[in-house]
Amino acid sequence: MNRSGPRQQANMNDQGDIDRLLSALGHRSIVMVGMMGCGKTAIGRRLAQRLELPFADADEEIEKAAGKSISEIFQDHGEQHFRDGERKVIARLLRSGPQVLATGGGAFMNEETRKAVRENGISIWLKADLPVLLRRVGRRESRPLLKVENPEAIMKRLLKERSPVYALADIVADSKDEPHDQIVAQLIQLLLKSPVLEAQPGV
Ligand code: S3P
Repeated sequence: MNRSGPRQQANMNDQGDIDRLLSALGHRSIVMVGMMGCGKTAIGRRLAQRLELPFADADEEIEKAAGKSISEIFQDHGEQHFRDGERKVIARLLRSGPQVLATGGGAFMNEETRKAVRENGISIWLKADLPVLLRRVGRRESRPLLKVENPEAIMKRLLKERSPVYALADIVADSKDEPHDQIVAQLIQLLLKSPVLEAQPGV
């Protein structure tokens, strides 16, 4: 008996789609970019599960490499030191695809990182509006850039400054308040439609 209604069916990609995606992806990584709070880690992790690929979170790897939290790195050494570490860690992680890689919100602003992502991966900008982002980042205390009197003003400025650069990603996807499985199903369809997927088969 088929129990799935139209809603569940919309959440599903068939195995053929997934096999096609994995074979065209080769050793490349799927790289999640976008603002703090857009869902790079949560959705990236779910996408990795669906594709049965490893998942890596750049922020977590930076913390592991430094033996400190991101807040401590900012506090002890400053933002520039964090950005240097971020660039190096992402370059290293990109050498071990295929995988889904979530990057920190500022990572894609670095030109060298964008080049490494272009050469070794397919990038997805998870695009969300300011009110959605603010609601989501409000839940956590772990972001040093937002430990200020007016985090809303910072988020507004960063969104404005960064959006044109995030828009250079291979795929732009809306990160709405939908179930993650539904967003993942949409991402898989967008990846399959992307000319970049076929551009470097088996790389
Ligand atoms: C940052 C985003 C954070 C983290 C650091 C700086 C940014 O990652 O890398 O706090 O510059 O936007 P998330 O986007 O995962 O929160």
